[in-house]
Amino acid sequence: MSGEAQRSAPILARETTGEGMPTHVAIIMDGNGRWAAQRGLPRFEGHRKGIEAIRRAVRTASEFGINYLTVYSFSAENWRRPADEVSFLMGLLKRFVRHDLAELHSNNVRVRIIGEREGLASDIRLLLDEAEQLTRANTGLTLIIAFNYGGRQEITSAVRALAQKVKEGTLDPSSIDMGMIGEYLDTKGIPDPDLVIRTSGEQRVSNFLTWQTAYSEFVFLPVFWPDFDETSFKNAIEEYGRRDRRFGGLSAKAC
Ligand code: IPE
Ligand code: IPE
Ligand code: MG
Repeated sequence: MSGEAQRSAPILARETTGEGMPTHVAIIMDGNGRWAAQRGLPRFEGHRKGIEAIRRAVRTASEFGINYLTVYSFSAENWRRPADEVSFLMGLLKRFVRHDLAELHSNNVRVRIIGEREGLASDIRLLLDEAEQLTRANTGLTLIIAFNYGGRQEITSAVRALAQKVKEGTLDPSSIDMGMIGEYLDTKGIPDPDLVIRTSGEQRVSNFLTWQTAYSEFVFLPVFWPDFDETSFKNAIEEYGRRDRRFGGLSAKAC
């Protein structure tokens, strides 16, 4: 565990076995539609309820001393959904930023947005810029909202930018290394996720943080996103604490 994580880990570490706390938790918030269907409600009610679960997750992450929380809110592939659902999700993001930004700021949360801005309406882009600008100097939890995000699209943009530099003669291909690629991703400056949680029972990545999750631990939970609460979060972190991260080497216990 990094020194940074050790400094910020006291709450859960005390409650659990003292195992490692994740510095960066990334969540694939899935199952809003099924949560609603189970109750005979339209899908958008699940999305609406999902906002409350985001608020809970942000609060819990701060309490646990987690430094970075990424939430997958809208994928590059979610445009394939019916137009009314897409526009509801766009409206929900706007309402979330308008309603919650002041409180996030007063709680010292730094907001970052990853994903392609170009494909978004100008009023949403302005709001996202405002959220980042207002909170940029905050020193508490970094909340990363993945919106119109796709891991493959992100890598493709990075490749394109690097190829352009090579073409212009300002970059020697032999100097391209993994660190440089990381600098061209939207997540520049953010450590890779230690733990990825996916709710809803699906066990796939769905184009989330493709580059960054090379050595992340995955925990799949059988709860729908609107039901994700402090206990679910704590269970996932405890499961993470039981994992043996080897990064291709040997277990610390084997050394
Ligand atoms: C997650 O819930 C929210 C988004 C992907 C925007 P879903 O809308 O995918 O809910 P299910 O998976 O259909 O239940
Ligand atoms: C992943 O969920 C995207 C988000 C949570 C924003 P999806 O519901 O879109 O993923 P698939 O289609 O089941 O893989
Ligand atoms: Mg889904």
